[in-house]
Amino acid sequence: MPALHETTSPNGAPRTHHVAVIGGDGIGPEVVAEALKVVDAAGVVLSTTDYDLGAERYRRTGEVLPDSVLEELRGADAILLGAVGPRVDDPDVPSGVIERGLLLRLRFELDLYVNLRPFRAVRGSIADGAEFLVLRENTEGAYVGEGGFLHKGTPQEVATQGSVNTRAGVERLVRHGFELAEGRAARAVNLVHKTNVLTYSGDLWHRTFADVASEYPDIATAYEHVDAACISMVERAQRYDVIVTDNLFGDILTDLAAAVCGGIGYAASANLHPGSTSLFEPVHGAAHDIAGKGIANPIAAITSAALLLDHLGERDAAASITKAVEDYVAATSSDPSAGVSPGPVATAAIGDAIAERL
Ligand code: IPM
Ligand code: MN
Repeated sequence: MPALHETTSPNGAPRTHHVAVIGGDGIGPEVVAEALKVVDAAGVVLSTTDYDLGAERYRRTGEVLPDSVLEELRGADAILLGAVGPRVDDPDVPSGVIERGLLLRLRFELDLYVNLRPFRAVRGSIADGAEFLVLRENTEGAYVGEGGFLHKGTPQEVATQGSVNTRAGVERLVRHGFELAEGRAARAVNLVHKTNVLTYSGDLWHRTFADVASEYPDIATAYEHVDAACISMVERAQRYDVIVTDNLFGDILTDLAAAVCGGIGYAASANLHPGSTSLFEPVHGAAHDIAGKGIANPIAAITSAALLLDHLGERDAAASITKAVEDYVAATSSDPSAGVSPGPVATAAIGDAIAERL
């Protein structure tokens, strides 16, 4: 695939990338600061604009994502996001307001149809040796908000919430998975769904997967039901190469993948529309319980920034950050169960240690 952005302008001068930064809530700003520190150490000059968005902004102003801000974000080369979301018990920010109004709105409005979540197991984790990609469809499925209530609040209440799956939407996600598999050593793509029960959407996914697979005869394919995939993920994640799956299954399966690969603090993600403004964020949330203590693991944010640089065509810088993170993790990961707070090592110290390797 051609680079989206040339990293030099026609006269040979380095190109400036305009990156919108949404630190967000909880540990978001802390981990994003380390990510930007590492990008700087890798020698990439970004022109950043900070956006005050998230549960705190909503609580202060009642605004979630003003249309004018959305238009500015659309104009950025890329978006780096820390974490957004309220504390679970916050009475002023109802569940879903920030998730739907900000994060999912960005995914939908920017048509970020690939949620790419790369995993590399930390040494000593139960998935030790595993290295695979999950591509989660990111603009359809149960996330579209189809459905509604009837007789809400009465004993006769009915709630429906459908899952929308389009041939075109599924096909573009699956195709991206095969394209990525072509460049990998194992060259295998697994479809994860629940075709034995979801006989409409599962059937569409299965047929689409088979059609795309027929264009890639040298790529191995396999199918697993999502419940069985949960067992495989725990017992033998090492056999995965590229997984393609729908929005909700992908949400759940990637939290499990993160857990078996060493903890959610290591899991990065790219919300991609190839060739267009895309959004990069750690898989973890705001983790309000540890916010402000300087103990959050910034590695997921740092790796997400590497994915951002890769998308902007800064391939070498992206690769050197990924390598620095791998080396750092290999040298320090003695307690993978530590999750988002790896032992006593502080957020800034991890950022410094990785920056020093560059
Ligand atoms: C994720 C998160 C989001 C999702 C939430 C915060 C809406 O869990 O990125 O995995 O469900 O997609
Ligand atoms: Mn999730």
